[in-house]
Amino acid sequence: MASKAQNGAGSEATFRAREKARDADHVGFLKHKRFRYLWVALTLCGLLTVGYLTIEQEPRPNGGSWYGYTLGTIGLGLIVWLSLLGVRKRRPTPGHWNLKGWTSAHVYLGLSLIVIGTLHTGFQFGWNVHTLAYALMMVVILSGMYGVWAYATFPSKLSGTRGEMTRAQMVEALEAIDRQLDSAAQPLERSESDVVIAALSQDIFFGGAWGRLTGTYPGCATKAALAAIDRAPTSEATDKVHALLTRRSDQLAQIRRYLRIKALIEIWLFIHIPATIALLAALLAHVVSVFYYW
Ligand code: HEM
Repeated sequence: MASKAQNGAGSEATFRAREKARDADHVGFLKHKRFRYLWVALTLCGLLTVGYLTIEQEPRPNGGSWYGYTLGTIGLGLIVWLSLLGVRKRRPTPGHWNLKGWTSAHVYLGLSLIVIGTLHTGFQFGWNVHTLAYALMMVVILSGMYGVWAYATFPSKLSGTRGEMTRAQMVEALEAIDRQLDSAAQPLERSESDVVIAALSQDIFFGGAWGRLTGTYPGCATKAALAAIDRAPTSEATDKVHALLTRRSDQLAQIRRYLRIKALIEIWLFIHIPATIALLAALLAHVVSVFYYW
């Protein structure tokens, strides 16, 4: 028994250590190898900007000039490479060229596209597939910037929300309250026990993506049950159920805060990935149309 408890404590400690390491990893990639890829990106942007400014051509080079083609080719190559992070993430390999290095390069070289892509346009924008590709690229980049900010900001809030509890423990605590509520509701009047049963049978993850993101659950049956028990004539049984419903409501609030922060950490990928796919499609159309009208 003791060894079981020790094992439990041990695996809990391991879980926490892993979570801590993962949280640190969420931003560790920014400083990877002393900002190596930041310097690579800055050098690349610097060289390409100097090239753009020193080329003797009037008007200034745009996408259709030889310099524009060079910038376009570098940009396209970078975008295809950046898109491959999705594949790489799913096939991680430890060692020299690891995921942390990839993510670091991804972020800084991704940001360098703001300079490379903008110089490639020659500051010429319009209602066409070329500008669409540029706009999609900026959507991907902006969502990525949000992602880096979210990774840096939210994981510590996540640990704060949970206190010492893991997600499974929070759900277990709710289930323990529910068991007590189930028996405490037995002596209640039919109409009162019905609202308690409705609260107990509502899926704790109800509310959908919107509820999760905003933390608003207007159809919460626990809240409705609390209000109904409040209105009911006071007795020992209603007092007990009221106290338990209040505990349930607090426990639910904790789980919902946790779910909200998790959603805020993950939401940007629902923009970053589809916009990447749209960007690759727009780039294909952009390149085909450029060569078609050549
Ligand atoms: C056009 C440029 C970019 C493209 C095409 C692109 C594409 C992608 C793709 C396909 C993924 C993999 C997502 C997945 O499968 O989970 C990804 C992940 C990511 N991107 Fe980008 N990205 C670009 C720019 C950026 C920028 C500028 C930043 C930050 C400033 C950024 C930050 C991230 C981060 C933090 C991840 C997640 C890494 C992880 O969870 O391990 N991306 N990106």
